Amino acid sequence: MTSVFSICIVLGSMCVSLLSAEAEITVSGQVGSTAVLPCELQSVGTETPHIRWRIKSKIVFERLGEDTYQAEGYEGRVDVPEEELRKGNCSLVLHNLTLTDEDVYTSYQTVRRTKRSDAVKTKTEEISRVNLSVYGK
Ligand SMILES: *[C@@H]1O[C@H](CO)[C@@H](O)[C@H](O)[C@H]1NC(C)=O
Ligand SMILES: *[C@@H]1O[C@H](CO)[C@@H](O)[C@H](O)[C@H]1NC(C)=O
Ligand SMILES: *[C@@H]1O[C@H](CO)[C@@H](O)[C@H](O)[C@H]1NC(C)=O
Repeated sequence: MTSVFSICIVLGSMCVSLLSAEAEITVSGQVGSTAVLPCELQSVGTETPHIRWRIKSKIVFERLGEDTYQAEGYEGRVDVPEEELRKGNCSLVLHNLTLTDEDVYTSYQTVRRTKRSDAVKTKTEEISRVNLSVYGK
């Protein structure tokens, strides 16, 4: 009895550490190279996905269908390709890495919840968190 209990404790703490290791992904890349920050939608509905990537201080990239937003300093370098997003792949592609890109990037999906007579409600869910580190040449 006691041994079964202690096995559960060991397994439990292993599961917790596995989960927390999975919660934050680490990606590293060299200055000037391209990084892909992984992200996968939990479900691909009929609705056009609304995806947002942010760092602590600001939104870096946002896409809803063909409409996109690129933050200052990321112009022309950042994208979630539309055809990938349609397949449920919300990975962020960041070209020409600079040392200042180093940050923790979090992706969010905004889902519309429409009820018959109600106004449209939206819900924002975190999808993935990526710690990006950039090293010099
Ligand atoms: C997801 O998209 C990224 C960037 O477009 C690509 O590099 C990666 O291979 C894709 N992953 C899958 C599983 O298709
Ligand atoms: C990459 O970034 C550097 C510095 O930010 C810039 O000087 C260079 O022109 C960029 N290269 C490309 C291919 O965009
Ligand atoms: C991100 O990764 C770097 C290098 O592995 C580490 O030093 C840093 O503490 C991490 N940052 C966070 C917020 O986890």
